[in-house]
Amino acid sequence: MTTSTIAVVGGGLMGHGIAYLFAAAGHPVRVFDPDEAIRRSLPMRLGLIADLLEHDSGVIERIAVHDQLETAAAGSDLVVEAAPEKLALKRKLFAELEAIVRPDTILASNSSAIPSTEIGRHLLHRDRVIGTHFWNPPHLVPLVEVVQTEWTSAETVTRTMEVLRRAGKRPVHVRRDIPGFIGNRLQHALKREAIALLAAGVADAETIDTVVKDGFGARLAVLGPLEQSDLVGLDLTLDIQETLVPHLDRAPEVNELLRQKVAEGKLGMKTGEGFRRWTPEEAEAVRERLGQTLVDLTRR
Ligand SMILES: NC(=O)c1ccc[n+]([C@@H]2O[C@H](COP(=O)([O-])OP(=O)(O)OC[C@H]3O[C@@H](n4cnc5c(N)ncnc54)[C@H](O)[C@@H]3O)[C@@H](O)[C@H]2O)c1
Repeated sequence: MTTSTIAVVGGGLMGHGIAYLFAAAGHPVRVFDPDEAIRRSLPMRLGLIADLLEHDSGVIERIAVHDQLETAAAGSDLVVEAAPEKLALKRKLFAELEAIVRPDTILASNSSAIPSTEIGRHLLHRDRVIGTHFWNPPHLVPLVEVVQTEWTSAETVTRTMEVLRRAGKRPVHVRRDIPGFIGNRLQHALKREAIALLAAGVADAETIDTVVKDGFGARLAVLGPLEQSDLVGLDLTLDIQETLVPHLDRAPEVNELLRQKVAEGKLGMKTGEGFRRWTPEEAEAVRERLGQTLVDLTRR
């Protein structure tokens, strides 16, 4: 799939970044979005990525915007779906796509939580359906979880990993299509504990975040949790877990504090308050710091 044609379904937050990264790798890319305002804003949003990465206009010239699924997907080798996280909508899109593309065109979903097994359940050629879970912003975060469904063929896994690798991503193969795959299970295990600590009054939100960022978070990009256990020794890890595990939050429900914040309209930076208070300037500074750190990471 050296210069295969890629179709991206949905040109929102994730879709435009996914389109960009494939175009940057030399692929012709077609983006379908039913929303005219989204289609109109696409060149501007792609331009911001090009500026950030200091690319010339050649990348964006490889991206075509379509108002019909059929013209975007016809003849493509890989379709990446980045439409809203709703099973019925994704199933309908995949059924429509199956009628448009070749039987060997890979149909990949960027779903965050809906298993691609469910999205592709009623299709004729289920062996080419796969999950490709990109992380936001997809043009900067290297990881893509490539999730095989009950029916995904080994060839589909290999071809998907290959096209992603060639596009500069670091794909990993997830062998079971479980909710949250690997990354979100780990991330939300940490969030569950952080929210429980906050709710229990152990520290304020800023302090809890500081413990992560200035503590073990500083080494997470170079040392995964299992590597770190091997580094310090599994005997020490066992001793710590014997004391600690009984005290970790294991509630089977979402923490009431999170429900309460949402009910009060405290949604985070976009409303000026979530777990912490944010001025628009502070929120912008966080976004800038994150973007710059990720750009530096891609240049390493
Ligand atoms: N935002 C994230 O951090 C993130 C990370 C990983 C995965 N995801 C997943 O990626 C997918 C897209 O999320 P997003 O954050 O880009 O959402 P988004 O709302 O920014 O974009 C979705 C786009 O899909 C379009 N759309 C609506 N109906 C459509 C249809 N019938 N066909 C094609 N496009 C349609 C919308 O107009 C919109 O532009 C979701 O499944 C989401 O769970 C999101």
